[in-house]
Amino acid sequence: MADNNNNDINQTEEQLVFNVGDSVTGYTIIEKIDEGGYGQVFKVSKDDKIFAMKIESNSQEGGSAIKLEIEVLKDLRAKKMPNFPLVVRAGRKIKYHFLIMELLGENLRTLKFRSSNPDCLSVGTWTRLGIQCLYTIKLMHDCGYLHRDIKPSNFALGPSDDLLKKRLIYLFDFGLARKFVVKARDERAAAMTMTTVTQQSVMGTVEEKLENIKSSDYRWRLARRRTDFRGTQMYASPNAHDLKELGRADDVWSLMFMLAEFIAPLPWANEDKELANVKKSSKLSEMFKSEAFDKLEENLKSCDYYTPPDYEIAYNLMKSLLEKSGTNWNDPYDWEMKDQPEIEYRKWKDEKTSKNVVYVWENPKEFFKLDIWLNVPKPGSVKQKLKKNASVEQISGQQTSEGRKKNEENLEATKTIGEEGKSVEGKKKSALSKRKTPSIVMDFDDNATNCTTTMCAGPATVLPTAPLRPIAPSPRRKGKTSRKKKESSVRNKLKNLIRKK
Ligand SMILES: Nc1ncnc2c1ncn2[C@@H]1O[C@H](COP(=O)(O)OP(=O)(O)O)[C@@H](O)[C@H]1O
Ligand SMILES: [Mg+2]
Repeated sequence: MADNNNNDINQTEEQLVFNVGDSVTGYTIIEKIDEGGYGQVFKVSKDDKIFAMKIESNSQEGGSAIKLEIEVLKDLRAKKMPNFPLVVRAGRKIKYHFLIMELLGENLRTLKFRSSNPDCLSVGTWTRLGIQCLYTIKLMHDCGYLHRDIKPSNFALGPSDDLLKKRLIYLFDFGLARKFVVKARDERAAAMTMTTVTQQSVMGTVEEKLENIKSSDYRWRLARRRTDFRGTQMYASPNAHDLKELGRADDVWSLMFMLAEFIAPLPWANEDKELANVKKSSKLSEMFKSEAFDKLEENLKSCDYYTPPDYEIAYNLMKSLLEKSGTNWNDPYDWEMKDQPEIEYRKWKDEKTSKNVVYVWENPKEFFKLDIWLNVPKPGSVKQKLKKNASVEQISGQQTSEGRKKNEENLEATKTIGEEGKSVEGKKKSALSKRKTPSIVMDFDDNATNCTTTMCAGPATVLPTAPLRPIAPSPRRKGKTSRKKKESSVRNKLKNLIRKK
């Protein structure tokens, strides 16, 4: 069906209906990949190229979580992080939000079922998946985000048209993500630092990219004493059931549950009311049938919102099991082994060996040791309090960092208790979704960190503010001199305070 500016393609108030052949903002629907309670994912095409398109209705309670997803993906992309899908286009129509991104391969849930023994993946397969997933989760943490919905259906293989990416594991679905650190300094200065990073690459210099993230520009977002449940019942960490503010350790905890399920059903798989209790009394060492996992469990239990998990313990556990299994990084995965390795796998192996490619997770060196946020002062310390004041003071343009924080809060999806295996999200009404706004589309050009914004016709009244726009204070509203003055006044305050101490 032809695209029109009202986009009322067979849409009722409650449900959006898209059919094969329909066109959304110039992209033609080829097939439906997935449909959940809140969104639909399609394979779409434009100019002979194929993409994935995620659509979420604006009329569901709390509006669409894609707004948050776009924001996170945009930021990960600006930092040139590998292992997350590239965004091609994103925006809002009257009844829905859409996100067009690179088309990934099958998700891990599907691949498990396609494996030779879906009930128990081989050690060589689950440990290699685990190490890559851990790597991707840590990359996200090192960019300042928690995922909070780690599960097999939120990881997928890379784009199938790229030989060296098609067997990599990508992480997506950032509808429940949360920033745990926020910029305390002028956004523009940091954005300029970002532009120095090298071209997006799946191998090699991830350290280079991380070096460009200056933790001194950031401050912690305070942990709330109590939150709503976030995540998916089956994989949520014990802390999520206790309604605690989730931290980086909780993502790793969910990952361990996800991997344990690759070997055997989780002890709480058939539980309903007792699910949380059974989960809390189950031990990782029993699930993985190895006492070595006690150390990891101990570490995860000791972490709070501000403390990172010991990623290295998790990595070393998987690495040693992988080595013991005698499996090589270049060997086929369980789903690639039928009678003999699949032809696509063999092409990949030839390419990888001929180009001598070693991915970061095959030899991570210091990566899992590095805690990029170590020097960000914990709340409560003098420095942190000053930094907090400074951030409000420094950005006196139209949008203060507090204003941005509010936007983030508004964007954050809250979640009521979800069904088993499915993240069922009730999302907060964002300031944005409440407003009557024109349709807005963002185009992401291929190698830029910024995006261009174009307006589509629609019954518009108010222009949207952040987060659909790049979030930098307007240079026109904020002269260099006044900002410098304020920065120096903050510096003086800091000096005085440190002296007094
Ligand atoms: N970029 C993509 N390419 C291919 N498939 C995708 C892509 N994004 C999502 N999917 C598929 O759609 C499913 C649902 O997408 P997801 O973003 O997880 O939405 P939901 O919020 O409904 O869980 C995923 O499990 C995956 O199989
Ligand atoms: Mg999902």
